[in-house]
Amino acid sequence: MHPGDSAYWGEFDWERACAAGMKEVGLPFSGEYDFAATEMYWPVNHMVAPANQSVKCIECHTRDGGRLANLTDFYMPGRDRSPWIDRAGLGALLLALVGVLAHGVARIVISGRRKQGGSYEA
Ligand code: HEC
Repeated sequence: MHPGDSAYWGEFDWERACAAGMKEVGLPFSGEYDFAATEMYWPVNHMVAPANQSVKCIECHTRDGGRLANLTDFYMPGRDRSPWIDRAGLGALLLALVGVLAHGVARIVISGRRKQGGSYEA
């Protein structure tokens, strides 16, 4: 939408917008326009379906023939996987566990030495 292209929400001019719209669809424009009273009904649920009618996560996020099984140009969690990334993630978890355990053991050992009157007393 650029200034001068007659778009209503750019220029706020109904007549210019109508003329441009009619030209776009190749129909004659009389130059006259008016407004018709209409009514619109909206459910108060903001168009969101009840939970029991919604599509379940597992219908797409599954390995065995989900709704989007034929769409393959993207990564979808739960359906696609990379064994190497899975291994790297598992490795990071194990390293974190080793680090936490080593740290805990070191603290226990150092605390034991302090209680024996070691050199850590203030
Ligand atoms: C209609 C199919 C469909 C359903 C139903 C669906 N998803 Fe997804 N979901 C997708 C697709 C497709 C993607 C990948 C989108 C992308 O990569 O842009 C995705 C991506 C995701 C992601 C990763 C988001 C990200 O930023 O990478 C999460 C988390 C997720 N979905 C969770 C859920 C949960 C939780 C539900 C159920 C409440 C659900 N999905 C239901 C199709 C679906």
